[in-house]
Amino acid sequence: MTEKIGFIGAGNMAGAIINGLLRQGVCPADHLAVYDHHSTHYARFEERGVCGVETVRQLVKFADIIFLSVKPQNYDEVLQNICPFAEGKIIVSIAAGISSAYIKERLGDAAKIALAMPNTPLLLGEGATALCQCSPLTDVEYAKVKAVFAAGGVVQDLPEEQMAAVISVSGSSPAYVYLFAKAVIAGAVEQGIDVAVAKALIAQTLIGSAKMLTDSGIEPDELIRMVSSKGGTTIAALDALYAHGFEQAVIDGMRQCTRRAKELGK
Ligand SMILES: NC(=O)c1ccc[n+]([C@@H]2O[C@H](COP(=O)([O-])OP(=O)(O)OC[C@H]3O[C@@H](n4cnc5c(N)ncnc54)[C@H](OP(=O)(O)O)[C@@H]3O)[C@@H](O)[C@H]2O)c1
Repeated sequence: MTEKIGFIGAGNMAGAIINGLLRQGVCPADHLAVYDHHSTHYARFEERGVCGVETVRQLVKFADIIFLSVKPQNYDEVLQNICPFAEGKIIVSIAAGISSAYIKERLGDAAKIALAMPNTPLLLGEGATALCQCSPLTDVEYAKVKAVFAAGGVVQDLPEEQMAAVISVSGSSPAYVYLFAKAVIAGAVEQGIDVAVAKALIAQTLIGSAKMLTDSGIEPDELIRMVSSKGGTTIAALDALYAHGFEQAVIDGMRQCTRRAKELGK
């Protein structure tokens, strides 16, 4: 990719996206720059050849594609800061609840915007990103943004009206998976199994189960059935989980996640 890419906010997500770009050789390090109001955050970027710039103006001038990698509550300030220089630049939001209308209110209707919802496994190149093309961003420009996220994992195109709900599916869901893993480890330790052994076994079980979902072509209900012999151990476990409302708890958590995303966007 020949475009220059800038990140406002040199935090976890900027680091994860940059890792993917450099690991996959999508663009050279000197095509990347970060700006953050803590220049102390620059060291880990600069040691990989990514420039930390002193002002937001320098960042916007440098970049063709600008990632707004700050928290939703900082968007208003950042959009005000970039507004005088941002004409013609591709703007990528990665924040929960920020809509294209919100950005256009501050940058004007001609702003070229993509909305992304990545997740933290992007750090290891195993991310899942939901991505939305907003008019007037062209297909060619959108493809460039998509290539950035594809360097860090899987990308799915979504319409804007689903971008809040998808946070509950992939943006926030690593936390539910870790909570599940934590519960399994606690259950293992209670039964006398070493914590490190339990962690290794459940982690590989999650990887293997995820591969069954992506690669086997078998639907979740059938995958569950394949582990559940009649009168066996899995059914005993599942009965207890159903009795505790496991599925409903997950669905309710997702509803709360989407409700909060919509609140943040107001
Ligand atoms: N982490 C996730 O799992 C995840 C998943 C999907 C999307 N996201 C989204 O990604 C975005 C970034 O998340 P993150 O975890 O990378 O955040 P982070 O680690 O806190 O990084 C954001 C950085 O931007 C700085 N900053 C804030 N306002 C600024 C401004 N006006 N100008 C320059 N720098 C500024 C912050 O400084 P201060 O600390 O002083 O504010 C911080 O250093 C968020 O909108 C989040 O919703 C995160």
